[in-house]
Amino acid sequence: MKKDFLTVFDLSSEELFAVIERAIELKSGKDAGSCPLIGKNIGLLFEKPSTRTRISFEAGIYQLGGNAIFMNPADMQLGRGETIADTAKTLSRYLDGIVIRTFTHAKLNQFADHSTIPLINGLSDIHHPCQVLADVMTIYEKKKTIRGLKIAYIGDGNNVCNSLIEAASLLAFNLTIACPEGFEPDAAILENSRAQAQSEIIILRDPREAAGMADAVYTDVWVSMGQEQESDTKKDKFKAYQINSKLLSCSRKDVMVLHCMPAHRGEEITDDVIDGPNSVVFDQAENRLYTQKALMEKLILK
Ligand code: CP
Ligand code: NVA
Repeated sequence: MKKDFLTVFDLSSEELFAVIERAIELKSGKDAGSCPLIGKNIGLLFEKPSTRTRISFEAGIYQLGGNAIFMNPADMQLGRGETIADTAKTLSRYLDGIVIRTFTHAKLNQFADHSTIPLINGLSDIHHPCQVLADVMTIYEKKKTIRGLKIAYIGDGNNVCNSLIEAASLLAFNLTIACPEGFEPDAAILENSRAQAQSEIIILRDPREAAGMADAVYTDVWVSMGQEQESDTKKDKFKAYQINSKLLSCSRKDVMVLHCMPAHRGEEITDDVIDGPNSVVFDQAENRLYTQKALMEKLILK
């Protein structure tokens, strides 16, 4: 039976850890030049823009010997009203796997229900699990551990935050989320993750309290793709949540600074911090390549 990756919880903690270990192996050059995806076609169906996700998948598929087929929904019959079910059934006859970036997570579930090939979530409104694979790998690479660490997520309780919550639950790191009232992460994801967690997942309001004890501080944009109409009202509420040198002055000197990117410099993070010595944002971006290669090996070659 095919296995999808729509949320972090689609992997067990052992599987998640194995993907990270394999990604580290691939990054070290092990199995370079081996082409396990030779003869395989992987589709990339993106309804939103992307730099990291699209290009790291395309490059990773090529490095594994496969063929990436990028699909713009506007150029497909999907854009003229063909159903997701019919599209999923048709594409399953040509492809060996598919990555989809879309708006509502329900569309991914619908596609998964009607396809016979592994489906990978390249970002939806409530989850960004591929991002969090790379985040966890980056933290683990630098800190040599993940269990018991204290991670502070400061900003909007969005798709990245939701996936980070699931990772905290599976890998037993402590996660403190500082966000303005009304911008909390998804309640069901939070409840489900807390129920299974061996670590603390806390929501609070004061960004300094979150940053104070953290081994790593993470932020993302305040306005995600598809929320542009809320932009002006939302940004005002987030001003106190900017990651800047003043906020980090209450953190450990060696605190890691993470951002999934693209960054809105001067909004959720300042130039001096994202370009500063504590920032690992380009390692995070690089690690998308290795974690996704490891994920494709697991899902498509199994
Ligand atoms: N972090 C991330 O998913 O970036 P892209 O939107 O560029 O793919
Ligand atoms: N939360 C952001 C992540 C972009 C990679 C968004 O959904 O736009």
